[in-house]
Amino acid sequence: MSLFLSILTLTLTLTLFIPTCLSFTVIMSDSGVPSALVDAPQTGFSVNNNGATTDRDEQQAVYDIMKATGNDWATDIPDVCRGRWHGIECMPDKNNVFHVVSLSFGALSDDTAFPTCDPTRSYISPSITKLPHIRTLFFYRCFTDKPQPIPPFLGLMGPTLQTLVLRENGHVGPIPTQLGNLTGLRVLDLHKNNLNGSIPVSFSRFTGLKSLDLSSNKLTGSIPSFAFPELTILDLNQNHLTGSIPTEIGNCGSLMKIDLSRNRLSGVIPDSIGGLTSLILMDLSYNSLSGPIPTSLNNLDSLQALILNGNPISSMIPSTAFDKFKSLMILILSDTDSYGPIPESIARLPNLRILHLDRNRLNGSIPTSFRNVNGLSELRLNDNQLMGPIPFDKEIVWRMRRKLKLENNLGLCYDGRNGFGSDLGSLSDSGIDHCDMPRPGPAQMVQHVATTNEGEPGLANGGISYSMNSTADHPHPPQPLPETSSSSSLSLHQTKSTQMCQTSLHLPLKNTQPPHQRLRRPVSRREETYLSGVI
Ligand SMILES: *[C@@H]1O[C@H](CO)[C@@H](O)[C@H](O)[C@H]1NC(C)=O
Ligand SMILES: *[C@@H]1O[C@H](CO)[C@@H](O)[C@H](O)[C@H]1NC(C)=O
Ligand SMILES: *[C@@H]1O[C@H](CO)[C@@H](O)[C@H](O)[C@H]1NC(C)=O
Ligand SMILES: *[C@@H]1O[C@H](CO)[C@@H](O)[C@H](O)[C@H]1NC(C)=O
Repeated sequence: MSLFLSILTLTLTLTLFIPTCLSFTVIMSDSGVPSALVDAPQTGFSVNNNGATTDRDEQQAVYDIMKATGNDWATDIPDVCRGRWHGIECMPDKNNVFHVVSLSFGALSDDTAFPTCDPTRSYISPSITKLPHIRTLFFYRCFTDKPQPIPPFLGLMGPTLQTLVLRENGHVGPIPTQLGNLTGLRVLDLHKNNLNGSIPVSFSRFTGLKSLDLSSNKLTGSIPSFAFPELTILDLNQNHLTGSIPTEIGNCGSLMKIDLSRNRLSGVIPDSIGGLTSLILMDLSYNSLSGPIPTSLNNLDSLQALILNGNPISSMIPSTAFDKFKSLMILILSDTDSYGPIPESIARLPNLRILHLDRNRLNGSIPTSFRNVNGLSELRLNDNQLMGPIPFDKEIVWRMRRKLKLENNLGLCYDGRNGFGSDLGSLSDSGIDHCDMPRPGPAQMVQHVATTNEGEPGLANGGISYSMNSTADHPHPPQPLPETSSSSSLSLHQTKSTQMCQTSLHLPLKNTQPPHQRLRRPVSRREETYLSGVI
């Protein structure tokens, strides 16, 4: 559940970054000139349209549709276009006859007062096909108690229909291929039903499509080779889609959001995606996509969120891949079996806020370029094979707090010169401790150590020797120390953590457990909860 919530949070966050997203979930005003609609300026209706009447056949059709959703009250309204309920929109023709252009049902929010559906007996009346001027049809949570297929007769509505929203209605069965007849569709939203079968190839007839949302269904088969030049939103997340991402996706040149997450897609991410230069969000997480990440993605200089976690990418993170991502705010590569070093260039992304590289096989040290990641508010590098000093300064650590996750690495440590005293705060919760310091640290640091270990022999106040052999401030018994085979002047720490770093890390441990095991701190219950919230 927390997993879901965190996805939700991310979605909401992203929605804020992409204001255009919002308008697609509700009804789009198709003309962009809503003032022509009778429903909007209600006072204008009676003043300007004396003598106007609603087309009789359409009026009867509206009665049928209203009755089929349990809204029998509507039949008492002598003129539906003057009925002034939210959810019906009409427009006059040149003879001042009103035609129904939009019908909406369902309690979408507190602000919308569309007629609700009686879920126990609602269905879509075939009379819907008797509204030749209708552009928008919207049903939200209408048929949930009586699961039913999407009626194929909707295809008879023809090219006038621009927006078809059948959201969270509990529809079952396949998407009727007849919907391909709706060649004027700009918005098709079938989100969160129980639709199965494959995405009809007939959808390729939607040449003017701007938004396609088939997310949260049970669709199988592969993604057809669509090429919708005007498509801005493609959301197929949470289905059972297989096969690879079609190369033709590169022909959807207006795409701003592509979400194919939580499917069973395989193969590589096609190079052609790099041609989608308007992309703002790309979420391909939780599939079976393999690497490497195409370098063509580098061209996506509008991209704000790249989410690829939960795919067996199994390659190095290309060091040049992030040179041009000047808009990137969110980069999620968790659990992608990525290995090798963290490219320095990542830290130079000027707008990066959230970076998750956790649960991979990344090794080496955290690049020093991370010292200045001031914009970063969330960083996960936990569960990798990183070692060496953490380059961030105290302010960054303090600001991120629990959103900085570094635990379960081979040997990260904190370099005292970056501003901390002996109390590492949230860092020590991640099992991080001070690095061995072959060089003298700043006086301030020494001072602090000296005061906390008051009177302790072996602590030179000149800061030369750092032999902290005392267990005075730690109640637990001393841990076994790594055995030094070098004869350097390095002195060993006795700390509450078993994590050592720098030179001592490479040394064999006087312990029967394999070093890797031994260095892993048990994850606390609280952390586990937190971890399960990973996107
Ligand atoms: C779809 O359109 C074709 C003509 O292009 C027509 O013959 C057919 O009856 C239509 N079917 C539906 C269900 O809309
Ligand atoms: C779709 O689901 C129904 C049950 O709701 C089932 O009878 C049918 O076989 C399924 N079709 C496909 C293509 O999976
Ligand atoms: C990182 O791992 C790779 C193999 O995945 C290895 O070749 C390389 O030497 C390692 N680098 C470091 C710094 O440990
Ligand atoms: C550290 O403690 C060990 C035994 O616990 C002792 O043999 C050693 O002399 C101590 N070293 C210093 C520098 O205090």
